[in-house]
Amino acid sequence: MPDLLRVAIVGLGFGAEFIPIYQRHPQAVLHAICQRSREKLDAIGDAFKIDRRYTSYDELLKDPELDAVHINSPIHLHAPQAIAALEAGKHVACTVPAATSVDECRRIVSAAKASGKQYMMMETVIYSREYLFVRQLRDEGKLGRIQFLRGSHLQNMEGWPGYWEGLPPMHYATHCVSPCLALVQGEAQSVSCLGSGRIDDALIAKYGSPFSFETAHFRVRDQDVAGEVTRYLFGAQRQYAESFDVYGSKSSFEWQRVEGDDPVLHVGGEKVERVKIPDYAHLLPEPIRPFTTRGVYDAEDHQHLSFKQGSGHGGSHPHMAHEFVTAILQGRPTFPDVYQSVNWTMVGILAHESALRAGEWIILPDFR
Ligand SMILES: NC(=O)c1ccc[n+]([C@@H]2O[C@H](COP(=O)([O-])OP(=O)(O)OC[C@H]3O[C@@H](n4cnc5c(N)ncnc54)[C@H](O)[C@@H]3O)[C@@H](O)[C@H]2O)c1
Repeated sequence: MPDLLRVAIVGLGFGAEFIPIYQRHPQAVLHAICQRSREKLDAIGDAFKIDRRYTSYDELLKDPELDAVHINSPIHLHAPQAIAALEAGKHVACTVPAATSVDECRRIVSAAKASGKQYMMMETVIYSREYLFVRQLRDEGKLGRIQFLRGSHLQNMEGWPGYWEGLPPMHYATHCVSPCLALVQGEAQSVSCLGSGRIDDALIAKYGSPFSFETAHFRVRDQDVAGEVTRYLFGAQRQYAESFDVYGSKSSFEWQRVEGDDPVLHVGGEKVERVKIPDYAHLLPEPIRPFTTRGVYDAEDHQHLSFKQGSGHGGSHPHMAHEFVTAILQGRPTFPDVYQSVNWTMVGILAHESALRAGEWIILPDFR
């Protein structure tokens, strides 16, 4: 087992946020960067002093010194690029969602099995400080028995790059599905979803999806727990929110309704406590701790829009990178592993299928 993981970042919009994290991680080397246009590639390579630069993803994968790729390209490229990297013998970290179809999910699992390499979907919410706080409550037994879970991701995507326009809301559902399933360390067994409202005709034409909102229920495989998730992307007014609630026999956690408020803990009867969520930087190696509270650029204006809207994604970026690097070097599965990654992605893909079929229940395939 090597003692350092050599990582390349692919896609340098959101992806650039991770460059200095791998550069400063004591067990990682930021080996190369890759994106299509030479001008931006060089600007970022110069700014972060990275010599190895690729405009071609295929050329990157031929690099024999490279151990792993961290993919941050547009959604439709996630699965093809992940599969190609696994086939080239590289470990894969990939931003959300893992794929756009069940068939792509099946092929990611096959490629990971055949190569023996790791695949981790880089889901920010399950490494956010809010999630880490609730995970601690769970691990200390303070939630009691988990009885129900709820997630929502409400985001107006007008003005984002063209591939977002008209996207079925549930095709980008991992931010609300993942915290629910991660908390019960489970996978979904079945899903049913309703579509609601209607977006502009010009947007509907892009993906054939008419819905402003999609709202789904899912059952957890081999557990007697269910969850509910809600998403919208276009055609309504609502402040950005990525949230999850968990209801337990001893206490329940509910996310705040608007930015700036605090979440609440219901601790029995009518008793409610407001929670100040602590930061969890102390779980990380010292050199990457600062990245739980700030983005990679000094000036506010240069931060990625998703970082600002998502409140820095709850300080998750260094935790995710740390999990990816250490799991591989320790020879243990990443969290999430490939099976969890595709299951959590398929909840959304099949929820949209269900919405198009008036809420029909759909069983998720199990690729184990
Ligand atoms: N919280 C989160 O988890 C979160 C937040 C923001 C974005 N994302 C994900 O990150 C991805 C990228 O988002 P973005 O806003 O930076 O997108 P973007 O469209 O602004 O940037 C995409 C990047 O990918 C590169 N790229 C495109 N095709 C390529 C190819 N064939 N080979 C190599 N590079 C290629 C582009 O050059 C660009 O650098 C999205 O798919 C989104 O799902 C996740």
